[in-house]
Amino acid sequence: MTERTPMTPIAAGLDDGYAYTKLALPDGRLLVTPSRARIGRTAVTWINEAEQRVFEYETDDALYSVGAFDGASTHFEGYPWSGLNRAIVQHAFQKAGLAGHSVHAVSGLPVSAFYRKNGEHRDDTIGKKRDSLKIPVQPITDALPVGIAFHEVIPEALAAWYDDVIIEQRDGITLDADRVSVPVAVVDIGGRTTNYVVVKDQGVLHASSGSLQCGMMSVKQIVAGGIEARFDLEEISEERIDDAVTYNVVRLKGTNHDVTALVAAAKREVVEQIYMETRRQLGLGVELDRVLFVGGGTVALAEHITNWYPHQAVAAHPAFANARGMLKYLRYVCEASDAA
Ligand SMILES: Nc1ncnc2c1ncn2[C@@H]1O[C@H](COP(=O)(O)OP(=O)(O)OP(=O)(O)O)[C@@H](O)[C@H]1O
Ligand SMILES: [Mg+2]
Repeated sequence: MTERTPMTPIAAGLDDGYAYTKLALPDGRLLVTPSRARIGRTAVTWINEAEQRVFEYETDDALYSVGAFDGASTHFEGYPWSGLNRAIVQHAFQKAGLAGHSVHAVSGLPVSAFYRKNGEHRDDTIGKKRDSLKIPVQPITDALPVGIAFHEVIPEALAAWYDDVIIEQRDGITLDADRVSVPVAVVDIGGRTTNYVVVKDQGVLHASSGSLQCGMMSVKQIVAGGIEARFDLEEISEERIDDAVTYNVVRLKGTNHDVTALVAAAKREVVEQIYMETRRQLGLGVELDRVLFVGGGTVALAEHITNWYPHQAVAAHPAFANARGMLKYLRYVCEASDAA
């Protein structure tokens, strides 16, 4: 293997989702950073620098704070090509210890942002995303920036298909011929979106592919609304909601309150929407060989999606399936033609 020097670009699978930014690196590391940031400085002074939890970055003459706090929502249409996105991605690379390095990356867009319904590529959107991440981002510390020298964009969910069919072995890679030759559906349950692709004869079947604006963040929104109403609160922090959804308990004014029923109802509501869309896109899937579930929502909603299809499967570490596929696509599809 080539030695890692600042001169050798590092390949990265970069699944920069609305909820979490996932990185897959050639040394096998899989890393995750919450997609949370806000415009401007934070009003917090860190007494102990080692405890610093918020990091500042400048890009395109604007300052962004990234870290563990209630950030601005990524829930706006231009997020994938915004300064907010660039700051979060830069932070993910910095946390991965890549300061000063040049990176080659493949990232994603939701299926419906990537393709028109007739299957044409949305070149404007794809170009905006591709160019955005190449704009420099400067950390407001001594750290050297990470520069993205090469960046390609592929559809989410399709990325996970590449992960499924490209098999890495010690002596190189192979395409799993059995998996490539059969029609497969990938269902990617994410934070804001659930993405569908059906791949047959190495092509995407557009009639059964697309995005639903629904995911785990929808569950959190419903739970937040429920808690605010039940306890007559104006607002509740994302951290409390995350805990409520994970542990079925919310702590308010020093007291724990059980919210099991509220969380279960919210999950049921969202699962029902995803289930209906899955049936609409895939039907009973009789001509599919497999229905592959990926994405963080597949983990969070595991118990609710066990019996949708007799021939369904869940990818290994499903939250990272897209990121792994993006790295494989970069190394074995882009670089094979590009010889980087
Ligand atoms: N390992 C895990 N265990 C439990 N829940 C998880 C896990 N990983 C992620 N989740 C949950 O799944 C949700 C979706 O995560 P994911 O990383 O797939 O979203 P995303 O890719 O950022 O969103 P989108 O695809 O809509 O852009 C998260 O909000 C989180 O609640
Ligand atoms: Mg995702």
